[in-house]
Amino acid sequence: MKILFYTGKGGVGKSTMAAAAAWQLSRASRVLIVSLDPAHNLGDIFCVSLNGREMRLNERLCLREVDLQKLSRDYLEREIGVLTRTYSYLQALNLDRYFSVLKYSPGIEEYALLTSIEETIRKEGAKFDTLIFDTPPTGLTLRFLALPQITITWIDRLSQIRRQILDKRHTIQKIRGPLKEGEKSPEIKLAFDEKDDPVLNRLTALKENYESLTEVLQGPDCGVVLVFNPDMLSLRESERLVEGLRDIHLPLRLLIQNKVTEENRAVAAQVVAELRKVVGEIPLLQVALSTRLACGLDSTLYDIPEDLVAPLSWRP
Ligand SMILES: Nc1ncnc2c1ncn2[C@@H]1O[C@H](COP(=O)(O)OP(=O)(O)OP(=O)(O)O)[C@@H](O)[C@H]1O
Ligand SMILES: [Mg+2]
Repeated sequence: MKILFYTGKGGVGKSTMAAAAAWQLSRASRVLIVSLDPAHNLGDIFCVSLNGREMRLNERLCLREVDLQKLSRDYLEREIGVLTRTYSYLQALNLDRYFSVLKYSPGIEEYALLTSIEETIRKEGAKFDTLIFDTPPTGLTLRFLALPQITITWIDRLSQIRRQILDKRHTIQKIRGPLKEGEKSPEIKLAFDEKDDPVLNRLTALKENYESLTEVLQGPDCGVVLVFNPDMLSLRESERLVEGLRDIHLPLRLLIQNKVTEENRAVAAQVVAELRKVVGEIPLLQVALSTRLACGLDSTLYDIPEDLVAPLSWRP
């Protein structure tokens, strides 16, 4: 199973190219295309009404729009549930009050998106040959793609602190000694050993989860497609994206220069030359700016070339 992320600056044609690739791939294999952009237009591109849900367009092609707000709400609810259970012995501190402000904290959307990607890969990986993710504009995309690695660093530090806490509990227990005769044992027993501690166990499980996701994202079956236009702003943002992808070791597989015309052909060549300086010899496709009004991908939407997916058949 292959995983593709269509990335690029706002409005360059990510959704259109991702949808066209999904359509072309689905002629010979099973494809799920997922829109992660809060401003969905996947349904519009295929001329169907999705309304933040899923639809099987034909035997081999499934479309899904992710409802980011609902995803963030569900994610928070789940996490708050886990926190409340784990820290039930601290009820006197009225933790609910602290949890209720979590929804305003930065990063929730990114974690919710990442969790959705992880779940999609885990649950749908066996049902499809290709998963295509149409991503939101660059900044948010780079942030959620970088999250697994950032989170692993955090988990390591938190685990270290937790081990120190357990160690202190051990010391206190030793000083305090065993229960005296007639002394009531405490209602809530706190863990001393690492294997009994729910907090440390949860940190370990999370770390394993993020490590395996990182392995998939950096692996031979995953690839990023960068869509850009023949203009300066698109070039600059693409350069930043390439740099960001390099930092997090995500493999860039294909460049698509979209909306090329006779008039901007010289600028288009200049932009490619500049971009080549940072990306090297990655395959490049050029797609012309179409002046046709079209809807649906079965025939000739925007006269998109038929070989849009040929460079995506890299073999690990
Ligand atoms: N080759 C093309 N020829 C003509 N119009 C195009 C072409 N590619 C995309 N468009 C049009 O450009 C606009 C932006 O395309 P699209 O929505 O695919 O971009 P996007 O990068 O996904 O945007 P966003 O960042 O808002 O998600 C749309 O109106 C789309 O129909
Ligand atoms: Mg889009």
